[in-house]
Amino acid sequence: MGRAHRESYGGEMSTAASMVFYCLVFIAEILMFGVLSLVLFWVVHYRGGFAWREDVKLEFNYHPVLMITGFIFCMGHAMLVYRLFRCCNKLTAKILHTFLYLLAVPCIVVSTIAVFDSHNLRDPPIPNLYSLHSWLGVITIGLFGLQLVVGFFSFWLLLCCEHGTAKFRAGLVPVHATFGIVTFMLAIATAVTGYTEKALFTLKSDYSKFVDETWVINAQAACLAALAILMGFLLYSSRYARVGTQAVAIVEPPSSSHYVMTQKTYYYREHE
Ligand code: HEM
Repeated sequence: MGRAHRESYGGEMSTAASMVFYCLVFIAEILMFGVLSLVLFWVVHYRGGFAWREDVKLEFNYHPVLMITGFIFCMGHAMLVYRLFRCCNKLTAKILHTFLYLLAVPCIVVSTIAVFDSHNLRDPPIPNLYSLHSWLGVITIGLFGLQLVVGFFSFWLLLCCEHGTAKFRAGLVPVHATFGIVTFMLAIATAVTGYTEKALFTLKSDYSKFVDETWVINAQAACLAALAILMGFLLYSSRYARVGTQAVAIVEPPSSSHYVMTQKTYYYREHE
């Protein structure tokens, strides 16, 4: 294996595969920016904009906007970082991934406060956590929290004892990655049920009359469905992974050309 390959952080894709990859990423970007713009437009244009506790009906509007920002926009970009930043080292990608993940936290917290307020501060109050959407929502938020805890745990282990914990941390990576994709897919399912619920609550029979708002709501759900397919493909396909950073097994330092060095201190068996 040549020197150039050893020093490359990203996987080596053929020109055709690169073109397909960047086309798909471009479409994913359009969908993520599209759903974010649409939810903002919907809330401001059709649902009266934002307010805090002085008007709990409008306080609710923070809920869809911030959930989409946190779970779809920030988390979607955080997951794409490892696929996109093929030119820089893994630490830079890791820092960016963590930053985007952390950016989602205040969005999710404020959004959850807003939706609980919109139930509890109503007169009379609306019961909490009765709907399918709210149950899915609790599971999604729980999984997100778990991911955060596991992420920080492995980060602290890294700081405490980089060498001694390498094998354990390498084992955590596929679990963390799989749960990330599961959380993202669940967030999409939760959001789609949320849109359906809100459409039926507010538009009532107008929803089935194809009023303008029906199109705006359904377009957001359609963007999310397309994003689920595209992100699933981009994140699951090993063709687009960063070759050389995928630990298949930690082995002894190279004694033959069957092994390549992918990090300063650990030796991974070459990805087949
Ligand atoms: C994607 C992430 C989302 C999560 C994790 C989530 C989570 C939740 C949770 C936990 C509740 C329960 C609040 C309570 O019982 O007091 C709730 C309520 C609600 N959410 Fe979401 N939500 C998300 C996205 C959305 C979206 C995009 C909409 C679209 C408008 C939406 C609409 C609603 C509605 C109408 C309620 C009140 C009715 C109910 O409790 O089911 N949600 N959400």
